[in-house]
Amino acid sequence: MPGYEWIGETEKDQVNEVLETGILFRYEFEEARKGIYKVREFEEKFADYTGAVYAQAVTSGSAALKVALAALGVGPGAEVITQGFTFIATFEAIIEAGAVPIPAEIDETLNLDPKDFERKITDKTKAVIPVHMLGSPARIQEIIQIARQRDIKVIEDTAQALGAAVGGKKLGTWGDMGTFSFDFYKTITTGEGGMVITNDRSLHVRASEYADHGHDHNPEVGRALEERNFLGFNYRMNELQGAIGLAQLSKLDDMIQRQYENQQLIRETLESVGGIEMRHVPENGKDSYTHVCFLLPDADKAAAFHKFITQAGVPAIHFKNNLWHFLGNWEHLIERKTAWPGPFPFSGEPYGGNAVYSKDMLPRSIDIIGRLLAIPVSLQTDEDRIRTTVMTLQAAAEEIL
Ligand SMILES: Cc1ncc(COP(=O)(O)O)c(C=O)c1O
Repeated sequence: MPGYEWIGETEKDQVNEVLETGILFRYEFEEARKGIYKVREFEEKFADYTGAVYAQAVTSGSAALKVALAALGVGPGAEVITQGFTFIATFEAIIEAGAVPIPAEIDETLNLDPKDFERKITDKTKAVIPVHMLGSPARIQEIIQIARQRDIKVIEDTAQALGAAVGGKKLGTWGDMGTFSFDFYKTITTGEGGMVITNDRSLHVRASEYADHGHDHNPEVGRALEERNFLGFNYRMNELQGAIGLAQLSKLDDMIQRQYENQQLIRETLESVGGIEMRHVPENGKDSYTHVCFLLPDADKAAAFHKFITQAGVPAIHFKNNLWHFLGNWEHLIERKTAWPGPFPFSGEPYGGNAVYSKDMLPRSIDIIGRLLAIPVSLQTDEDRIRTTVMTLQAAAEEIL
């Protein structure tokens, strides 16, 4: 997830074009901006890249989720099913929207288990958010099929998997809406930033209005006279972010290709070791190669393997011990602590239910995450580094497996 590794002259040139006009706001200032609309151009090119009809740039991947939920009209009283293994933002966005997150298990794709999604559906379920974790697809076709049968809306949280696809169709375009993040650690970065894509014009219009205080963006009148259909908020991306986004997007295919090359030998080494199971990629799925993810036979072996390789200088994540990516480690969610007083949205009206969370409520996910290690793939790795990584993995396997 290394867009920052390739920040360079293209980004500087793009930013300088904006600075020369002095206009950092994405709307208005028609004369002074001399035809430069970086955010708009970034949206157009991003839509083209993903194959979506519409794209709305916003301030973060978290904001993108909230904007998508608002566009779909999902709010208080609704349940939204998502996986318990995700960055916490997916849960936070649902709660910020006033809805109730319902956690479901992952499978060996490390993403939403379609069967558990189906089991968790109630008459309050209005949306599902499959998250394409660590660069690779969820079983999105099965998830969509179940959702369509029940009239449940699908938002794909694609924050971690820009450029990945199933059957040649990019992730984020399978559901009703797709969301992306461009934060400091993502495949392309704008420092902070996000995008919401859709093929549905009315959803796009609602997203663009919600992200800009409700402005209906009527080109015939100035902003002061624009009307509104509902209350919104400010999730606008600025022109400097749009400029960097354009530069990064122009490098995206090369980044993914380099990631593919840099992870291949590491993956082949692990695949050849008995006792190691690689993360499953759904049929026809295409990874974006941000991480090499693999499962050890049990959590103790994973901990020992992790200790061995990190002490030898190979960076790896053991998500079991990561405080931000698994529900079992979110004591504040389990205690239902929000920034406001009272139990909203978890119980009381308009929900009428009582959502309860516990450390061990997702046993299958606990097992998978306990066994999971992920090695981040860097763009700037050299051959020596890859060779050392491979030798360290072989030594760890000999010692531990
Ligand atoms: C799966 C997932 N969803 C949402 C987000 C939120 O994105 P942002 O950091 O841009 O708010 C992230 C960020 O790490 C993420 O990994």
